[in-house]
Amino acid sequence: MKTFKIALIPGDGIGPEVVAEGVKVLQAIEQLDPAISFSFTEFPWGCEYYLEHGKMMADDGIEKLKGFDAIYLGAVGYPGVPDHISLWDLLLTIRKEFDQYVNLRPITLLNPALTPLKNKTAEQIDFLVIRENSEGEYAGAGDWLFKGKPEEVVLQTGVFSRKGTERIIRYAYEEAKRSNRTLTSISKANALNYSMVFWDEVFEEVGKEYPDVQTYSYLVDAASLYFVTEPERFEVVVTSNLFGDILTDIGAAITGGMGLATGANINPERSYPSMFEPVHGSAPDISGKGIANPIAAIWSVSQMMDFFGEEKWGKAILSVIQEMLHEKESLTSDLGGESTTTQLGDRFVELLAARSSELV
Ligand code: NAD
Ligand code: IPM
Ligand code: MN
Repeated sequence: MKTFKIALIPGDGIGPEVVAEGVKVLQAIEQLDPAISFSFTEFPWGCEYYLEHGKMMADDGIEKLKGFDAIYLGAVGYPGVPDHISLWDLLLTIRKEFDQYVNLRPITLLNPALTPLKNKTAEQIDFLVIRENSEGEYAGAGDWLFKGKPEEVVLQTGVFSRKGTERIIRYAYEEAKRSNRTLTSISKANALNYSMVFWDEVFEEVGKEYPDVQTYSYLVDAASLYFVTEPERFEVVVTSNLFGDILTDIGAAITGGMGLATGANINPERSYPSMFEPVHGSAPDISGKGIANPIAAIWSVSQMMDFFGEEKWGKAILSVIQEMLHEKESLTSDLGGESTTTQLGDRFVELLAARSSELV
């Protein structure tokens, strides 16, 4: 029997509401599959913790997380704590400290009725965004000069290292090659005359090692247009940290909304734990009402299972998501249903159990 050690950071707002449903799914897997077990350790870090302790996580938080196989996070950030503090001192710290430099964000339409795009089929909206997740526009470097004075100047410096740029681009080529898909790089070298010129050069250089991978390169503004008008252009996409952040919210919009978008923060070398989380935030506008859609968080569990090498469960979760997305009454209100967060999770587990005889 394999035991996977999972650190739970439910976080803020709807974070704990959706993580509870993901944990329900993990517990169901454990019950259904005699070969798998999970041990959970919950960390109460987030904005409430900050208001009590003056910090977002324990001083030795990173040390505490090191021994886990995975981190399962809900969402971070809540009114009352400045967003740049709550995010930099918890979520972004974990991504950086654990060198989770690959952010895998699938853009997959599982029910054509859910896209706001006219006449698009599931086959036309099915791609993977690989977002650089450790540096770039999120390097955290900058300066604030002459604060409050008329000559005030604020610098936010992007950092694109050779190592950081090459490794994400190489990862993307490998993924495109492995899955026999095209690779599109999204950048902005016409205006960002250092960082993105470098990015494009590296994309071309590394590409010489992958002559069989068909490539495309778009400027981010045009790519945003194509995400909406011709998503069928994309199969595997590689892009920088900030562009990937923004583009994947568009990706969420065209596949059914924030309640469905998932992201895996991967350290491919497995030197440190990887982290699985929905793309959405703490949604203060709906938190505490029991109506948050937990499917994005459950989809993160699917990504976690794939990462653990338990692909049969990863696939099973995805197909139950697909099945549920055709069962309108079982969905939450963002998708036109009437279920609560917990009812959706319960129904999910029922459907997963119904399939388990095919799996174990
Ligand atoms: P958000 O993703 O929390 O919400 C955007 C919109 O989507 C809201 O209308 C919300 O109700 C809706 N929504 C989001 N998730 C949903 C779900 N599961 N089910 C149904 N509806 C859902 O983004 P925001 O409002 O810009 O940010 C709120 C806070 O979350 C901020 O503090 C922000 O910094 C933080 N944030 C955190 C993360 C993270 O921890 N990974 C990601 C994004 C934003
Ligand atoms: C995301 C979020 C984070 C990001 C924020 C909360 C720092 O928007 O994961 O998409 O920008 O990476
Ligand atoms: Mn985002």
